[in-house]
Amino acid sequence: MAIELLGVCGSLRKGSYNRKLMFEAARVFGDAEYREADLNLPLFNEDLEEEVGIPEPVQRLAGDLKWAKAVIIGSPEYNKSLTGVLKNALDWTSRVKGGLWRDKPVAVVGASPGRAGADRSQFALRLALVPFRPKVIPGPEVLLAHADEAFDENGRLTDERTLKSLIEVMEQLKALI
Ligand code: FNR
Repeated sequence: MAIELLGVCGSLRKGSYNRKLMFEAARVFGDAEYREADLNLPLFNEDLEEEVGIPEPVQRLAGDLKWAKAVIIGSPEYNKSLTGVLKNALDWTSRVKGGLWRDKPVAVVGASPGRAGADRSQFALRLALVPFRPKVIPGPEVLLAHADEAFDENGRLTDERTLKSLIEVMEQLKALI
């Protein structure tokens, strides 16, 4: 039976390497109904919350998180940390009742055209997830360096080492569901 799998990408960029990596993670996962969340949300502002409550795009994100049996977060590194887009989404989801992330199996992956494969952003993201109490797979870390050279024309990951880590992490994600 296909498992509901949600991708959460910290990049809004169309050609995002992190999005490509998430797709590959979902492919490796196997029998999944994969969907990507839309993080194009208003900036969190308590005044806005007071005026309109939880905005519609945030409600959609909350619905996606409720739907998902497991989540893959693809996190780019911006200035050695997670992106504002992703932190904004986390802050919004913290305002929705019901503990959207509580005990949710989560795999963190990251890609960067640089040498370190977004490792610092993943570290920062793991800390940022602590208040939400999801079940985050601790390792192996999926750190795709030189991401600009790591996919073929069909979007398939050509980096064997990262593929190996991805397979291991997806096995663990399945086991947690
Ligand atoms: C970056 N980039 C970057 N890369 C990195 O490895 N460490 C870093 O600290 C940063 N900082 C950073 C800041 C800002 C504002 C931008 C726009 C970019 C480069 C980044 O990894 C690259 O743009 C990726 O391609 C972004 O991920 P997506 O959009 O391809 O998923």
